[in-house]
Amino acid sequence: MDPVRNPYSPGAGTPPPELAGRDELRETIRIALERVRAGRPNKSILMVGLRGVGKTVLLDRMREDAEGSGIHTTRVEAPESRSLPALLAPELRLALLRLSRIAKAKELAHRGLRGLAGFAKALKVKYQDIEVGFDFDPEPGLADNGDLAHDLQALLEVAGSAAGAAGAALAMFIDELQYVEEEELAALITALHRTAQRSLPVMLVGAGLPQLPGRMGRAKSYAERLFDFPQVGPLAEEAARIAIAKPASDQGVQVTEDALIRIFQETHGYPYFLQEWGKHAWEAAQASPITLHDVELASQTAVAALDESFFRVRFDRLTPSEKKYLRAMAELGPGPHRSGDIADELDRGVTSLGPTRSQLIAKGMIWSPSHGDTAFTVPLFDEFMRRIMPGDDWKQ
Ligand SMILES: Nc1ncnc2c1ncn2[C@@H]1O[C@H](COP(=O)(O)OP(=O)(O)O)[C@@H](O)[C@H]1O
Ligand SMILES: [Mg+2]
Repeated sequence: MDPVRNPYSPGAGTPPPELAGRDELRETIRIALERVRAGRPNKSILMVGLRGVGKTVLLDRMREDAEGSGIHTTRVEAPESRSLPALLAPELRLALLRLSRIAKAKELAHRGLRGLAGFAKALKVKYQDIEVGFDFDPEPGLADNGDLAHDLQALLEVAGSAAGAAGAALAMFIDELQYVEEEELAALITALHRTAQRSLPVMLVGAGLPQLPGRMGRAKSYAERLFDFPQVGPLAEEAARIAIAKPASDQGVQVTEDALIRIFQETHGYPYFLQEWGKHAWEAAQASPITLHDVELASQTAVAALDESFFRVRFDRLTPSEKKYLRAMAELGPGPHRSGDIADELDRGVTSLGPTRSQLIAKGMIWSPSHGDTAFTVPLFDEFMRRIMPGDDWKQ
């Protein structure tokens, strides 16, 4: 059918035509933000899940929801290489500038901007990647200690007071939080702990890979008490059907029952895969309805497309020994697997593989669900590894 009208949208962070099955989580965040705005205690919320389950698009939608109800937001994605203060500073500046236009919050917002200037100047020595415009001169003694934990706390306190004066809240949305250095995570946790103690309307809404709760706990042992970690997983069958059928029917196209069942079987309800299958089934179909036969054709092209994009970008970032490690895991199936079993597969000792495993965790390719266990962070990655490194050659 007409590719121009194809509604499906596979891609990292690409908003889906229908955000299916996430109403409950959106409602949880809405309630949390309203409680925080009202000065009531509420935990910050960090969503965790594998790649491609829809954390980023959910975060973006929640941010739109929040902005729509007059909450001030900042939005950053933590890349592997930039420091947290460098990411946050320009976003906090924008939030403070917006708050400064509200009469009741003006004075405090200006103070926040003075704090931001001190913050950036003092931390520039350690975090050279901080780049932010200065609207005011620093206020001596305000957030200019040069110690991230201290200064971030001071800055969020002023920013939170400004938001409170405006009758609003400040919600910081941070994606890929697992990439933030442990020391910077610790500073963020300390600062949020402080604003919570003072009942200031500041909240973190974050997303990250499944290793995130463990990293937070290592950064600060009390992190557990400050955060909820809702799991974002594959869609249940009913939601997966809606994700496929609704965008089609909005275009006047039907999808047959057996076609929907097959798409669910092939994708296991993983959002990224649903978009890919939807897109290819649409392409395969000549006319409405999309049939089981169309889905069968789509399965071949969808897998090829995933191999070239979703899986491939991750594979290409690996060293030969990392590839070999993942291939050995794939040999054992979807996982999780015991480190000892993976080592056996490679005829190596567990300890000698430690560095490779650590690098793979740092790259966000694998994580450890419990001590000594290793699992992929990308769904169906084991099947991909067996396709891209077939046979036994990888053992050499
Ligand atoms: N609830 C959903 N319903 C349908 N499609 C979704 C849903 N959530 C995400 N998607 C689609 O899945 C893909 C991956 O989403 P993304 O937010 O990038 O995942 P993650 O951040 O978890 O890796 C995108 O193409 C997006 O459109
Ligand atoms: Mg994402």
